Amino acid sequence: MGMEVRSVRVAVLGALAAGLLGAVCVAHSSNAQEPAKSVELSGKKFKNIKVLKDLPADKLIPVMHEYNTALNVKCSFCHDTTVGPDGKRTGYEKDTNKVKNQAREMILMTGKLNKSFKAVDKQATCFMCHHGHPEPETHAPEVK
Ligand code: HEC
Ligand code: HEC
Repeated sequence: MGMEVRSVRVAVLGALAAGLLGAVCVAHSSNAQEPAKSVELSGKKFKNIKVLKDLPADKLIPVMHEYNTALNVKCSFCHDTTVGPDGKRTGYEKDTNKVKNQAREMILMTGKLNKSFKAVDKQATCFMCHHGHPEPETHAPEVK
């Protein structure tokens, strides 16, 4: 009896772990629509794309602007860039700013909310939590 219960538990845990891994693998991005075959993808066009690979390349910069608005920050909040003699900024591919990796995790999380939780009705966005704050307010104001 004891053995039986335990092996069932192990099987259930195994299935859960597999399910989780599966979910992480499909949750590529929050914003990527199913792209048409001829569309150039961000994973191809840009140098260091880890989660937004399937996002059409011409949508990447608009999505970046959405992050700015949702968190009320500038590009430099996540990116360490340099301004060249021509006035152009380069270095967006660098991972030296740790906030950029935190943002990657957030993109995965938002994608997973939309893919895995029916009640969310695919409405999850950065703005949903951040509401124009780099760090979301997680507690309601104290009522006196
Ligand atoms: C909240 C954080 C955040 C903000 C704000 C942000 N970015 Fe990004 N950006 C990222 C992340 C994360 C990636 C990498 C995505 C990935 O790995 O799939 C990225 C990737 C990029 C890339 C691709 C670089 C390459 O060659 O790999 C460019 C270009 C870029 N961002 C430009 C911008 C610009 C311009 C702005 C401001 C309008 C901006 N970003 C604002 C987080 C941010
Ligand atoms: C379900 C709520 C939720 C969603 C959706 C969400 N975030 Fe967050 N985010 C948080 C919380 C909570 C924190 C942690 C704040 C803290 O450390 O105090 C955070 C932190 C961050 C940070 C680190 C900020 C810092 O100052 O270190 C970045 C960057 C970020 N989020 C970007 C994003 C982006 C981009 C999206 C959309 C792709 C997103 N978040 C979606 C809740 C959310």
